[in-house]
Amino acid sequence: MNRILLRGGRVIDPSAEHDEIADVLIEGERIAAVGRGLRADGAEVIEADGFWVTPGLIDLHCHLREPGQEYKEDIGSGGRAAAAGGFTAVACMANTHPVNDDPATTDFIIDRATHDSPARVYPVAAATKGLEGVVMTEMVALVEAGAAAFSDDGKTIMDGGVMRHVLEYSRLVDAVVITHAEDQTLVGGGVINEGAVSTRLGLRGNPPIAEVVHVARDLILAEFTGGQLHVAHVSTKGAVDLIRQAKDRGVNVTAEVAPHHLVLTDEATAEYNTNMKVAPPLRSEEDRDACRRGLVEGVIDAIATDHAPHAQHEKELEFSAAPPGMIGFETALAVVLDLVRSGELSPLELIRRLSTHPARILRRAGGSLAVGAPADVSVIDPARSWIYDVAKSYSKSRNSPWDGATLTGRAVATLVNGRLVYDVERGILI
Ligand code: DOR
Repeated sequence: MNRILLRGGRVIDPSAEHDEIADVLIEGERIAAVGRGLRADGAEVIEADGFWVTPGLIDLHCHLREPGQEYKEDIGSGGRAAAAGGFTAVACMANTHPVNDDPATTDFIIDRATHDSPARVYPVAAATKGLEGVVMTEMVALVEAGAAAFSDDGKTIMDGGVMRHVLEYSRLVDAVVITHAEDQTLVGGGVINEGAVSTRLGLRGNPPIAEVVHVARDLILAEFTGGQLHVAHVSTKGAVDLIRQAKDRGVNVTAEVAPHHLVLTDEATAEYNTNMKVAPPLRSEEDRDACRRGLVEGVIDAIATDHAPHAQHEKELEFSAAPPGMIGFETALAVVLDLVRSGELSPLELIRRLSTHPARILRRAGGSLAVGAPADVSVIDPARSWIYDVAKSYSKSRNSPWDGATLTGRAVATLVNGRLVYDVERGILI
């Protein structure tokens, strides 16, 4: 049997409120023991002194583009980029071509992931056929095929009646509905946050209220139906406030924030850099700070990358015409470690938001280093300084805002199901 000993790391396990120096022994596909001075004759030893050893990071929200847009990404390339970023599992959105709105497509994604991806892949199925917001998908059949959640992400379910029924069915299938909360009538074709920067650049603004109004509607519908709502990529103070109030009332809601919304503002768009174009857009300082506070206070439960690959020729258009999205698997950890460096989050609380909470929201195993748990583990050097060269990314796409940046903190090893799939010195190993 495969045996690996991770020796002498700082073992951070939010599921057990555990943060201390220890060894972790993996046997086969499971965690076999956690403790000091473990003996493991014949085991492969990974020295983790000075590193964090954590439950594998889990990304609730990404775009892998397969089937249909393999020139941007595929399940293999995306899975490798994820593993290189410390992610052991990722949930991929349904806006593929064809849309993942039927069991055969869900099945295809799972099958591809089994063969091609070092990270686990959890398909998020569409909530409505073709992401058109009109006819519900067959949620029961999709869950039976392996769908982990439901979302029309990239598009908004504008019809309140449809959203009501989707939320009602979320109870039946015990899976969250992930809302892309942008009221499209209020977005009004905006391509950047509405404010001083959009005025200065002469670009059409997407106002914060587009998100706030839609989050308000979905929270009320979640309250009414008792359905399980998850708010994707929260970007505004107004949305954070509404989610806080809803949680206080006992509404069944969780939320995520993307790394870019925690550290960047619309000022980053000032050079018309299309790699800064994302939906929802980078917002004001006040919004960014509210997102950070929301994450710290637990109003926002999780960090999700919204890794959204696009080809160079698509991004090399004028700002209004370029598609929104940025890649993020390999940079997310370094970016969000900023909250630990600033003292806003402890390492334990950061890992809770990157692993334990995402597992719970997706109703999947993970987020724990308990004995007997699947051996999905990230080994992280929080202090490693490195230069991100997007040309060397495992992703097929290059649309990162961080190209050339000096980053601090990096995954140095990633283990999935007891196998070492990534090592920072040797790269992807399978
Ligand atoms: O920036 C984004 N890109 N936001 C979305 O909601 C969709 C995504 C994509 O698919 O490219």
